[in-house]
Amino acid sequence: MKGRRVRITGVTVVLLALAVAYGGRVARAWERGLAPVAAPSPPAGDAEAIARGAKLAAIGNCMTCHTAAPGQPLAGGLPLQTPFGVIYSTNITPDEGSGIGGWSLEAFTRAMRRGVSRDGHLLYPAFPYPHFAQMSDADIAALYAWLMSRASVDAPTPHNTLIFPLGLRPLMAVWNRLYLPPESAASATSHASKDAQAPEVARGRYLVESLGHCGACHTPLNRLGAERRDRALQGGTLEGWDAPALNDLTARPRPWTQAQLTAYLRTGYASEHGAAAGPMRAVTRSLGDASAEDVEAIAAYLLTLQSTPNAAAPPAATGVHVSTAPANGATLFAAACASCHGEGAAMSIDGHRPSLSLSTAVNAESPRNMVRIMLDGIAWHESEAGSFMPPFAGTFTDTQIAELANYTRARFSALGPWSSLDAKAVARLRKESPSR
Ligand code: HEC
Ligand code: HEC
Ligand code: HEC
Repeated sequence: MKGRRVRITGVTVVLLALAVAYGGRVARAWERGLAPVAAPSPPAGDAEAIARGAKLAAIGNCMTCHTAAPGQPLAGGLPLQTPFGVIYSTNITPDEGSGIGGWSLEAFTRAMRRGVSRDGHLLYPAFPYPHFAQMSDADIAALYAWLMSRASVDAPTPHNTLIFPLGLRPLMAVWNRLYLPPESAASATSHASKDAQAPEVARGRYLVESLGHCGACHTPLNRLGAERRDRALQGGTLEGWDAPALNDLTARPRPWTQAQLTAYLRTGYASEHGAAAGPMRAVTRSLGDASAEDVEAIAAYLLTLQSTPNAAAPPAATGVHVSTAPANGATLFAAACASCHGEGAAMSIDGHRPSLSLSTAVNAESPRNMVRIMLDGIAWHESEAGSFMPPFAGTFTDTQIAELANYTRARFSALGPWSSLDAKAVARLRKESPSR
């Protein structure tokens, strides 16, 4: 992937006004620098801590954001596209000059908890520190031990190209004041949940809210790019994709179970739902390296969030509902899709692939992910190159993509047609993901 588009929306003017309102505090927004230390050698922490840190890093997805393509692991330089310009991820290898080799555990902990770099400059929340802030000291220390045991790479981070005034990092002090949960509150929640919930569920909650930062994509953002806590995990939009709500997983055509969720999160594929596409693919690829118990715990916790357990599941479409479907769509589907997705296609029988009638994208309220999947395809692990969803962006016109999507909806979903999906809507969606 060439770059990532992070959901930082916001009104610059509002930030500026807030900066003025909070005046004095912004002046103190550059925090004290922490003295560099000699890179620990041998690395800090024992073999056990390093191994645990590696499993935790897989849940935190550190590698995905901190590795550019092409680029060395963790050496940073991946451009994160925002509406205000580009933020580059940093080099977090133990290189002393360009990485975090000179960082003490104290400096690393401060960055994870408060978004402050070692020299004292404030970091942007494109780095999900508001979530990492809620991690335990032991987990932060294990991550540190793992990072310090990685190969050093000398790779200076490119300069961000943010539009004025967002290039002014001190503005983040205002943002932190408004949205960064105070440290005491963060640890209080994790203690309370430990008391009240089964250990597996409490573990899952801790991972989802802190290291896993699922809400960074699955929670809607306010105008300053902060997650709306009143609507946690109720669905967000990023990089041209919808990250579906995670509190109505049991209202899908086939309700999600712990086993299906665990399979999906660890392998990117669930036999009764389909494949993880778009930005979720990288998440699942990373979770594949996490501990199986931790991913099971995440699944267990997600299932406790369901608002309507099993009640509102719409019936999965079984027969063919083509009455409202565009005729061109049927012809195009027969030619381009039926060999894999038609009834009796080898892929669905031999490969045991689920029918499109079980797909979240096909049954979603918005056609966004359906169109995205058709345009971008679903890149599969190399070992499974045999079955992949090809990208059709270069094959079909906007009109044809709209006809195909509308036909697929009419044929495979028992829900009503997407009223808004026409060539213009497809053209807009194409523009939202220019790098793919
Ligand atoms: C969604 C993308 C993303 C993920 C996931 C992510 N980071 Fe980052 N991280 C960034 C970006 C972008 C920056 C730079 C922010 C800035 O310059 O203001 C950053 C900065 C940092 C810094 C500060 C480095 C410095 O020189 O100031 C550290 C430390 C860090 N990340 C560690 C981690 C660890 C550990 C993980 C996994 C647990 C992780 N990050 C996961 C995007 C990410
Ligand atoms: C980088 C953004 C991002 C992050 C981080 C992220 N997700 Fe997702 N997630 C998505 C997108 C986009 C989709 C839709 C993918 C598709 O249509 O195939 C998705 C889909 C899902 C689904 C399938 C929902 C359904 O009904 O089909 C589940 C379950 C899920 N995510 C759980 C999680 C969990 C748990 C975490 C945290 C460990 C997480 N996600 C982190 C973006 C993200
Ligand atoms: C070469 C085989 C192949 C062709 C041709 C193909 N697909 Fe796919 N498609 C796949 C595979 C493999 C997946 C992965 C998910 C799965 O196995 O269910 C997939 C997934 C999808 C999904 C997402 C299902 C989910 O997991 O939520 C949609 C929607 C979809 N395809 C639509 C289409 C449409 C529309 C066409 C024709 C324009 C098409 N596909 C052509 C192989 C194919």
